[in-house]
Formats: sequence, structure tokens, C-alpha cells
Amino acid sequence: MTILVTGGTGRTGGAVARRLHEANFPYLVLTRSGTASAPYEANACRFDFLDPGTFGIPFDTAKTPVSAIYVVVPMAVSDEIAKPVTDFIDFAKGKGVKRFVLLSSNVYEPGTRICGAVHQHLIDLGGDVEFCAIRPTWFMENFSRAYVPSIKKDGVIASPSKDGKARWISTDDVGAAAFRALTDTTLTNTDHILLGPELLNYDDIAKILTDVIGKKITYSRISLDEYKAELETYGLVGLRAQIMLELRDELARGVENKPDNGEVLRLTGKAPITFREWAERNKGIWQ
Ligand SMILES: NC(=O)c1ccc[n+]([C@@H]2O[C@H](COP(=O)([O-])OP(=O)(O)OC[C@H]3O[C@@H](n4cnc5c(N)ncnc54)[C@H](OP(=O)(O)O)[C@@H]3O)[C@@H](O)[C@H]2O)c1
Repeated sequence: MTILVTGGTGRTGGAVARRLHEANFPYLVLTRSGTASAPYEANACRFDFLDPGTFGIPFDTAKTPVSAIYVVVPMAVSDEIAKPVTDFIDFAKGKGVKRFVLLSSNVYEPGTRICGAVHQHLIDLGGDVEFCAIRPTWFMENFSRAYVPSIKKDGVIASPSKDGKARWISTDDVGAAAFRALTDTTLTNTDHILLGPELLNYDDIAKILTDVIGKKITYSRISLDEYKAELETYGLVGLRAQIMLELRDELARGVENKPDNGEVLRLTGKAPITFREWAERNKGIWQ
């Protein structure tokens, strides 16, 4: 039985692909380019949610029937993004796929937009399919992507998040939970809010990064308008920018200030890593 991994060249999908590879599980990494880096080259398969002409390629490529699919909804450029994803789920269901593991987010309840709309679609399919919704909080990896230039150049993390705290989680822990959901068929129609071990605001994170990198890192509190202007300089406008602003405003208002729920430990058998552990593993990125 083959598992298809959408977003397999990305962060949580990459962590899923690594576990499937190490477990010698038949899998395909679905990617728009049709290529993947080592050690997944032989398992790469062309696929694009926005091109229905590619939907059949993974099923023609898989050497054994497809048993489950990890569904990563691409970062939204429009509210319409849920439609191609649900079209692919319907296509896969038509090919006999029974099990879907959706990467959503703790902020998207079923029936809301984007990942929430895809989640609702899986619920509406009823007993025809089994699914697990993996709903993590904010990724630690946001600090190894967007903030890298400003940390390297000025030692600054700028955000309109005020003193808002979140239980930051590593995408590797999310991938470990998704791997369990893909391979354990006793988990059906479940909803997993995944939280990291500590509640940290940006000041706490700046302090940890200062220790780990060995260079003073400070948190600059900026306004939502200043953040919007900064996003525009990177060409981030429209829905994607609006979502980024809304999420940071929610963080500032304490929406992510949640008690630990032990879900990562329950799903993976391992406690989620701390921000400091994650930063130690990745410190080369900021040096
Ligand atoms: N950032 C956070 O803190 C956070 C928290 C909770 C949930 N999330 C959710 O995480 C998801 C992924 O975000 P990410 O930034 O971490 O992305 P990512 O996993 O690093 O990369 C995105 C992946 O999507 C694939 N992709 C993009 N467009 C595609 C298309 N049209 N068809 C097929 N595949 C496509 C890319 O593959 P190729 O380029 O190889 O085609 C890539 O593997 C989002 O749905 C977001 O809501 C994020």
C-alpha cells in the first residue's frame, strides 16, 4: 500500500516523508516540479493541486494501491484554494482511497475558510472516508524562514504580536504526529490540536536566540500598519498578507494562550521539543 505525501518537499510533509522512508513504507512525494532532493529522488512524482490534469499521475506511478494521503493545503492566495484541494480528495476517493490526514491549523475550525473548508469537506463525506485533522499551533520554523535576514543583519525580530504568547511547535513534531495518523488506522475521524511545550512571547524567543546564537537579539514591537508595509516590500499583498496580519493580531490578543493538552505525547509517544532544543539544532541558520 502506498502513501501519497502532498507538501512532501516542505516542512511538515518533509518530516512525514523522512519517517515513511526510514520505515521502508511505500510512498510518493508529490511536487509541482516532479523532482525531490536526496534521499527522496526516486519517490518524487509530479502533481499540482491547481492542475487537475496531474491528479491521476500519482495513481499511475504508485506500484501498489494508494492507502492514504497526507494533505497539505498550499499557502492561500485566495479563499478559492480549498476547492482544488477538495476536488483532489474527491478524485482520490474515486480511485478507492479511504484515508486522508489533513494538515490544518488550531485556528481553523471545521467549516471556516481554507483548511477549515477542507476539514468540513472530509466530515461531509461521512462514512465513505476516514480522516484525521492535524491542527498545530505556530511553527518554530517561522524563525528559520521569514526572520533570518533581520536576525542576521540587525539582530532584530519585528512583529505586531505585542506580548502575545503561543505554544510554538516544531514541524518535525507535527510530522511525527501526521505519520502516526497516516499509519494507524484505529484513529478515525479525529481532530488533533497540537501544541508545543512552553508558552513563549517574542521577548522570550529573543532571549533564547540570544543565548543560542551568542549575539544580542531583540524584539521590536511594531504596529499592524508597519507590518503590513513590511509585507508589501516582499510583495505579500491580498489574502495572504491579510491572513498574516489577522494571525499576528490574534496572537497579540492572547488567542494562542492555551493550556498544554499533551496531544503530541499522546500521538507520538514523545514530548514535543522545546524552543531552545529546536534553536540549538538549527543555530547555523542565523550565524
Ligand atoms: N506557519 C505556521 O506557523 C503554520 C501553523 C499551522 C499550520 N500551518 C499550515 O501549514 C501549511 C503549509 O505551510 P508551510 O509554510 O509550512 O509550507 P511548506 O510545507 O514549507 O511548503 C509548502 C508545500 O506545498 C507544496 N505546494 C505549494 N503549492 C502547491 C500546489 N499548487 N500543488 C501541490 N503542492 C503545492 C510545495 O511543494 P512544491 O513546491 O514542491 O510543489 C511545498 O512542499 C499551510 O496550509 C498552513 O496553513 C502553518
